[in-house]
Amino acid sequence: MHMFKSSVLLAALVAQARAQCPSVWTDVATDLKTLFVGSDGTCTDDARAAIRLSFHDCWPGACDGSIILADECGDRTENIQMVGICGTLGDMATDSGVGTADLIQFAAAMGIAAAGGPSITVKVGREDVSTANPENQMPTREDDAATLISAFAAKGFSATELVALVGTHSAARDASGAALDSTIGKMDSNFYNETAAGTAPTSLDSDRFLSNSSQTSSDWAKFGASSSAWSTAFVPAMEKLSLLGNDEASLTDCSSVLTAAFA
Ligand code: HEM
Ligand SMILES: *[C@@H]1O[C@H](CO)[C@@H](O)[C@H](O)[C@H]1NC(C)=O
Ligand SMILES: *[C@@H]1O[C@H](CO)[C@@H](O)[C@H](O)[C@H]1NC(C)=O
Repeated sequence: MHMFKSSVLLAALVAQARAQCPSVWTDVATDLKTLFVGSDGTCTDDARAAIRLSFHDCWPGACDGSIILADECGDRTENIQMVGICGTLGDMATDSGVGTADLIQFAAAMGIAAAGGPSITVKVGREDVSTANPENQMPTREDDAATLISAFAAKGFSATELVALVGTHSAARDASGAALDSTIGKMDSNFYNETAAGTAPTSLDSDRFLSNSSQTSSDWAKFGASSSAWSTAFVPAMEKLSLLGNDEASLTDCSSVLTAAFA
């Protein structure tokens, strides 16, 4: 009887511990918000780099922190623009004791919120890995729509999810510093319209191809016409990206911490 009771109690405590977001994330959220929201209320360069870092950590294998822990950031040309944020988040993970893989995804969700984008469900508990993922996995700015569609399909993402995910380029610069839409501090639908119309300060050919290919142009136009249509498609696609190579059932939801930070 006694043993039965205590094992039930233990199981209940374990379930509760799993369900509750560790309180350290509240402090992490405060620090990230300071880093990501600029004095004019739009997002900073650190925020855009953090959003991109999520993609570059997850895509070559899993969302496992290896971009920082195996220094894929320092070793690979496609990551050159993210060396600064890799250092910042690597130090923050060490200092606060949170997982590096988790911090990268948490920071991306914070960056999206800092850019005025939608709330992403953000979970923690990923396994950190310090072995590098295979090289040459990232899509490039020269890729046409068919190439991008098949690369995304190979990872389980639809063409619509692909088009929705590149909406993050609404808060992006290219390597020369030029903005990919006229409202770079805000993650908004202007990006889709301006890319399609050729009126953005600069555009990546990969985005232009998605805007003008028959396989993706209707989604492209739809997201330009309606920011709610975009966020409806973007939110689940971004959450799926943030979980690549991880078992969602073993993770703990920390979304409330993020929401509270921007309340
Ligand atoms: C479809 C495939 C994609 C391609 C070909 C692509 C390519 C690029 C390129 C070329 C840049 C500019 C940096 C440079 O000139 O080297 C860039 C920036 C960026 N990308 Fe992508 N990207 C893709 C998908 C994504 C996804 C899925 C995300 C996030 C979920 C993302 C987030 C960003 C962000 C936030 C920046 C701005 C970085 C900054 O300004 O510091 N991209 N991307
Ligand atoms: C579509 O975009 C590509 C990449 O920028 C460009 O080379 C091509 O001319 C565009 N096609 C049309 C029909 O606008
Ligand atoms: C984009 O273009 C569509 C169609 O012209 C228009 O309805 C929509 O308001 C535009 N969106 C933005 C954000 O300007």
